Amino acid sequence: MSKIILGIESSCDETAVAIVKDDELLANIVSTQIDVHTKYGGVMPEIASRLHAENISIVLKEALDKANVTMEDVSAIAVTRGPGLIGALHVGIQAAKTLALLYDKPLIPVHHLAGHIYANEFVKPLMFPLLAIVVSGGNTELVLMKDHLDFEIIGETKDDAIGECYDKVARVMGLPYPGGIPIDKLSKEGKHTYKLPQPLHDKSYDFSYSGLKTSIINMVHNIEQKGKKINVPDLCCSFQETAIGMILEKSLRAVEEYKVKQVVLAGGVSANSYLREQIQERLKNTGIDVVIPPMWCCTDNAAMIAKLGSRLYDEKIFAPLSISVDPSWKIDDFRNFNN
Ligand code: KG4
Repeated sequence: MSKIILGIESSCDETAVAIVKDDELLANIVSTQIDVHTKYGGVMPEIASRLHAENISIVLKEALDKANVTMEDVSAIAVTRGPGLIGALHVGIQAAKTLALLYDKPLIPVHHLAGHIYANEFVKPLMFPLLAIVVSGGNTELVLMKDHLDFEIIGETKDDAIGECYDKVARVMGLPYPGGIPIDKLSKEGKHTYKLPQPLHDKSYDFSYSGLKTSIINMVHNIEQKGKKINVPDLCCSFQETAIGMILEKSLRAVEEYKVKQVVLAGGVSANSYLREQIQERLKNTGIDVVIPPMWCCTDNAAMIAKLGSRLYDEKIFAPLSISVDPSWKIDDFRNFNN
């Protein structure tokens, strides 16, 4: 009998439902709220939750119709339990719990970042040991995997996430939200002329982005106070090469130390053209496999939740209907969902 997993994702500003049958992606519906949040220059948590509540049933129906399956056909419901915005996560988890109760299906709690890592399985099988470079609006982590479902955080940000830093730096330059996209585009027209600090330039695998962010905000304000103008493409290029440079430097060192066979990118910032190009370039001719996720799975989606849900289904990692969300759930604690 076929295994059909329904995935639900609502951790930030995308309401998404997907259906995976064995290894085939039957439906992947994403309703993004980005246009609404752009007006505010960032995600407004209260508005995100309200829009998830309004959209979830519509997205669910569209996914079932597209896949041509009924809820009775579904083997289990996989849902993002964390990390993410608390109110936004609650909408997805309540929808999943209601469906699980009504149709008597197992409920599978999925870690959002583990989902991003497993999105790479839509490209090719994972190979171990593996280094996952997890870079998004809310997280910056280097995750070592020695086997399936074995996640070890070897380094992480001590303050801001890299995506958050992109968004704040874009805002001070007057660029729209989400800032990663215009900065990435404009940096191609500029040169690395601004000298910027590289915090936590040390032997650890940890990161720090708040100092870089603050130094750019102060620099822009100082230049403007003198009645002068910054060169936006040059500052974009200088910032991008510094911010991504920190990821590249530590990742390449981890690749050597842990003798990894494969490197995968995961999360919203993995859409970055400089990161994608440089990681491939610097690992060329090393024998280390580099997996670059397609653009559609860099942004939040439920296909990755259903994909990982399918593996967790085989392991019988099911949760009771009493589970709740965990906005700061750690990837290495993904088997623990009792809170
Ligand atoms: O994973 P994601 O969709 O959600 C959150 O974790 O919130 O990541 C969104 C982040 C935003 O900060 C956005 O600016 C960044 O990903 N981003 C990029 C690019 N595209 C999106 N950052 C750098 N370069 C890009 N091309």
